[in-house]
Amino acid sequence: MKKTRVAVLISGRGSNMMALSEAAKKSSYPAEIALVLSNRPDAAGLLNAEAGGIRIASIDHTTYRGDRESFERATHEELLRHDIELICLAGFMRLLSGWFVARWENRILNIHPALLPAFKGLDTHRRALAAGVKIHGATVHFVSAEMDSGPILAQGAVPVREGDDVETLAARVLEVEHRLYPLALGLVAAGRVRVVCGRCTIDGGLAGGDPLIVPDDR
Ligand code: GRF
Repeated sequence: MKKTRVAVLISGRGSNMMALSEAAKKSSYPAEIALVLSNRPDAAGLLNAEAGGIRIASIDHTTYRGDRESFERATHEELLRHDIELICLAGFMRLLSGWFVARWENRILNIHPALLPAFKGLDTHRRALAAGVKIHGATVHFVSAEMDSGPILAQGAVPVREGDDVETLAARVLEVEHRLYPLALGLVAAGRVRVVCGRCTIDGGLAGGDPLIVPDDR
């Protein structure tokens, strides 16, 4: 089976990147993590990726002194050098311009720690607690030029419990993220996802009850 060549873009610890690379070890998984690229040379996730035998690269955005286009051109060229077909953003803390997104149209996924379209942007768990929502979660979506927007592919929900603080809620959501992202990438790499009129449809429906809503069963 020819696997889809995926680059995971990170800026930090890379736990979602590791969840994707764990899933990709299975011979039946339709994607391989061909590159882990960071905009921060000191990202902890780079060391973990390298230890796992994955190719790594870093393109330090600070050396481009606010010149987003040059940074993105360098990133784009690095991805082409590695024959990348699909990009997964996983804690990648740079906004991507319309120029970059157009070149990778419907080929960039992102995971966001909230149930979009609620709580776009940063600090989602604190804002969810402040709003008093009873259900929170994570979303995998295709990336459009607008922040935390683009067709929603998969969501996982968790309860917000009495006594939760940012740490306990973040940990509960992160567990879901680590299940959701490999599932979503697997669907895209298997060619089962189509984007029609800004919405995702999954060809063949959800065989075997794929857990797109991931229950928290504790
Ligand atoms: C995750 O919560 C993800 O949803 C968000 O950034 C965080 C990255 O964590 N986009 P990690 O680097 O994958 O551990």
